[in-house]
Amino acid sequence: MVTKAIIPAGGLGTRFLPATKSLPKEMLPIFDKPAIQYIVEEGVKSGIKSFVVVTGRNKSVIEDHFDVHPELDAFLESKNKSELIEGISKIVATSNFIYVRQKEPLGLGHAVWSAKHVIGNEPVAVFLPDDIIMGKTATMAQLVQVALQEKCNVVAVQEVPMEDVSRYGIIGVRKQFSPNLFQVKELVEKPRVSDAPSNLAIVGRYVLSPKIFDVLEQQHIGTGGEIQLTDAIQELLLSGEKVFAVKIQGERYDTGHPMGLLKANIDYALRHPRHAETILAYLKSLDKDFVVMQGKADALAKPVGSLVL
Ligand code: UTP
Repeated sequence: MVTKAIIPAGGLGTRFLPATKSLPKEMLPIFDKPAIQYIVEEGVKSGIKSFVVVTGRNKSVIEDHFDVHPELDAFLESKNKSELIEGISKIVATSNFIYVRQKEPLGLGHAVWSAKHVIGNEPVAVFLPDDIIMGKTATMAQLVQVALQEKCNVVAVQEVPMEDVSRYGIIGVRKQFSPNLFQVKELVEKPRVSDAPSNLAIVGRYVLSPKIFDVLEQQHIGTGGEIQLTDAIQELLLSGEKVFAVKIQGERYDTGHPMGLLKANIDYALRHPRHAETILAYLKSLDKDFVVMQGKADALAKPVGSLVL
């Protein structure tokens, strides 16, 4: 069983400044829910009972979100509108939330290591809250299944264009078992295109053996001046542990930067049974405007560029 998950949320979110000066990026909404709630929902669907959220300064609203709110409950009940918070109330009632403070944002590997004392000697799921995966099946449920069957570490991967490999951790494949299941030979953090062993990039879902904490404890600062989780998993591999990779099904959104969050919002609305028609009609109306705008592109370029948004 894998029942505990780490959600590293201690980063500074500089790509969203100034929005993230006091607001955690994990709380930025995709349509009507904060990004981190999608992650927790995927966790619940995958059998996770306890979420260890690694936080830092200015992150306390995450704790408020995953907590009871009796005044709001009473107010919504009096207005017959309790369904507005039904989903989050159920999560709060049935899951445990534990918060660990990362004293300094020294990287993803360090954030995961910070949760060591609450995980114990059992495999743990790790979710990066920036990676939102919309699809029919819960990605983490697939990873957990492979981890239990093969008694191994598992990472989620996605094919990326070769020219983008240096933005990701990349796996080399030892053996392919099916179109979506691989045994991993090596993991390289942000390789140059010429050094990349494949174009299979690690995305933010992992199931890791508890040995990862010992490896992270010994880990030195890696690529980008941070303690890298990919480097630690590579160490696990070298120490004789098996690592498998599962290719994700569904659409992944990197909501760690404004354009990715915007795309996730649009696509979510387009899939929403009640709102799809409205957003589609709106996008179509933009398309007409866009054709007009293209005709005047030069004239428009300046005013649009100088608009204060
Ligand atoms: P990112 O590098 O995408 O997040 O880390 P960041 O550092 O907050 O973002 P930018 O680059 O400044 O915009 C991926 C995840 O790991 C967490 C982040 O909160 C994010 O969810 N993280 C990162 C930590 O918890 N601690 C860290 O030291 C670094």
